[in-house]
Amino acid sequence: MKGGFFITGTDTGVGKTWTTVALMRHLQKQGRSVLGMKPVAAGCTLNDGQWQNADALLLQENGSLTVDYRCINPYALRDPVSPHIAAAQADCNVQLEEILRNFYHLRSLVDMVLVEGAGGWLAPLNDHQDIADLAAVLELPVILVVAIRLGCINHARLSYRAILAASQPCAGWIAVCSEPNMLVRDENIATIRRALDAPLLGVLPYTHYPDFNFLSKRLKLDVA
Ligand SMILES: Nc1ncnc2c1ncn2[C@@H]1O[C@H](COP(=O)(O)OP(=O)(O)OP(=O)(O)O)[C@@H](O)[C@H]1O
Ligand SMILES: [Mg+2]
Repeated sequence: MKGGFFITGTDTGVGKTWTTVALMRHLQKQGRSVLGMKPVAAGCTLNDGQWQNADALLLQENGSLTVDYRCINPYALRDPVSPHIAAAQADCNVQLEEILRNFYHLRSLVDMVLVEGAGGWLAPLNDHQDIADLAAVLELPVILVVAIRLGCINHARLSYRAILAASQPCAGWIAVCSEPNMLVRDENIATIRRALDAPLLGVLPYTHYPDFNFLSKRLKLDVA
């Protein structure tokens, strides 16, 4: 079965990349070939004459096959700012058709492609399109990553409503416990669980380093 998921989050820095790699591991352990894609990345360094982003490199490294960097990250924007501003500064226009072309190529190679968004669900990509529009053209079910920290209930409810408003199927949400001393953490997770009409696919515990094997065992995603 050819498919994939679109990984969005309640904000930037909530754990989308770590979660995407953990999901890739989880699916690979089920016997599926998987690639990760970060179509638009803001915040890149110049490596051997090519702008590259740390998230995209991590996704490339963890794929089931070695694929060309540019296919995983067609838009590598230098400055770590909102993608539409980073693109404008680089005199570049993010085009969904170009992302779709690369996505189809990746999907022809493997069973599943996991696509990480940039920022949150409504982060703009250009003057008239945002991450929600990207998820729509990719036609992928959405997974919402929620960093369990103060304010997360509001952010999770807002993001979930916006996903539903876009008529995008939501495959579920994942709680990322990136704050080791978060007060009433379990109560926050329970509240979000009641508020969202989508399954909780896993609670990723705090880890001192990115232990993707360990994190992948905390996920439950059954793909038909
Ligand atoms: N399970 C975890 N345990 C501990 N820390 C975590 C965990 N998951 C994420 N983090 C912390 O949160 C940081 C941000 O995670 P990550 O890079 O996955 O976020 P992101 O949503 O992909 O960010 P961006 O918006 O920049 O793409 C990590 O560098 C790490 O410090
Ligand atoms: Mg990321």
